[in-house]
Amino acid sequence: MGNRVTSIKDVFSLNEGAEVTIRGWVYRKRELKDKIFLIVRDGSGIIQAVINKSEPNIADIVSKLNIESSLILTGVVKKEPRAPGGSEIHVKRIDWYYVGDPFPINEDAAKADSEYLLDVRHLWVRSRRMWAVLRIRHTVFGAIHEFFRSRGYYEVQGPMFVSAAVEGGATLFPVKYFDREDVYLTQSSQFYLEVLIYTLEKVYTVAPSFRAEPSRTRRHLTEFWHAEAEEAWLQFDGLLKLLEDLITYIVNKVLEERQDELKLLGRDMKILEDVKPPFYRVSYDEAIEILQSKGLKIKWGDDIGADEERVLTLQFDKPVLLHHFPEQVKAFYHRNDPSRPETTLSVDVLAPEGYGEIVGGGERIYDYEELLGKIKKFGLKPEDYDWYLDLRRYGSVPHAGFGLGIDRLVMWVCGLDHIRDAIPFPRDIRRVKP
Ligand code: 4AD
Ligand code: MG
Repeated sequence: MGNRVTSIKDVFSLNEGAEVTIRGWVYRKRELKDKIFLIVRDGSGIIQAVINKSEPNIADIVSKLNIESSLILTGVVKKEPRAPGGSEIHVKRIDWYYVGDPFPINEDAAKADSEYLLDVRHLWVRSRRMWAVLRIRHTVFGAIHEFFRSRGYYEVQGPMFVSAAVEGGATLFPVKYFDREDVYLTQSSQFYLEVLIYTLEKVYTVAPSFRAEPSRTRRHLTEFWHAEAEEAWLQFDGLLKLLEDLITYIVNKVLEERQDELKLLGRDMKILEDVKPPFYRVSYDEAIEILQSKGLKIKWGDDIGADEERVLTLQFDKPVLLHHFPEQVKAFYHRNDPSRPETTLSVDVLAPEGYGEIVGGGERIYDYEELLGKIKKFGLKPEDYDWYLDLRRYGSVPHAGFGLGIDRLVMWVCGLDHIRDAIPFPRDIRRVKP
């Protein structure tokens, strides 16, 4: 396999007549009387390769190849406006190949049955759609790290095995942990980030979170990727600005680096281009009014669920900062607004176009008595939160933070119908394989 190999994306900038070696997989194959057209893909893109049947030693090999057979080929670049990308390769030599079995996914199977595509996820990830999504996802993860690091946040890691609920007991996953029965998978690293602000002040983490979500929905996974941040001294207004900046930064990065992928997915780019501060700020009170005016049966104090978020965000062409939820619909750690104590200094970021919640966050209670009171009011056991309460006993400070559901963000940025297409190996109530 001696020749220098060129990435397919780089072939398009070569001059006509250049000799190149590429390697990859057969994406499509079309046989005519005197020619065979192969579309070959590698990690960088696709290109058309043309095999002349007057070269029987090459043509014989190529006719044996299946979709997804692998190969290394050498040929000459020719400009061809009708070929994808405007260039094609006229094959002179097959340097290496591996035929394998006929590929089980064809275009009809791909259209027909999404459950089947989930069963063969380990093969479906080779599709152009998954290729585009995974490249956008890569850019999103990179952008999150760049954003936080450039602003002086330290990356930290919390444990995945935990012994208390952050987000309510109902979605805790128990784990068999030796002979103990009080161990779970974490729902959020928030409490550990709150610990670490006393060391580093500004911290973030990118880690999985786990929720025992009993229903299959378009936007719930049982294992999802969570970008969480926590900051000492940060107050509510600063938090809202931070969220606007983070989401704007990520979306801009995707627009900068992933035009081709967004086009391949058919994404409406205008919506993404319009993402810049300020986002819409809608209070919970206003949201209830909007929803009631749309004919929904909802009253002050009710939670705003997926259906309501959908109705709400169809009204908006930019993300919405939905703030000041009532105390009873938000987890116990949310700080009540001193100027209106029945509400909390809480915020959800809702993605527009019907997508809904991608971030949950807010100011945390920092006063010991206040936190203890809220734990009791919510019917929780103070002893389950002993170390979390300790943070309020030694040099407590006002602070705020949030959690961004990265898979949900990718789903929205890509314009996908279902969250499972935003992650390579989705997990839900029925599926833990492949
Ligand atoms: O709103 P949530 O439950 O908030 C927390 O977990 C906080 N402790 C975060 C924090 O302040 N550090 O979850 C945060 C985000 C949601 O807005 C959503 O985007 C995502 O995590 N999320 C899920 N994504 C996919 N599947 C699920 N089952 C999800 N549950 C939450
Ligand atoms: Mg939430």
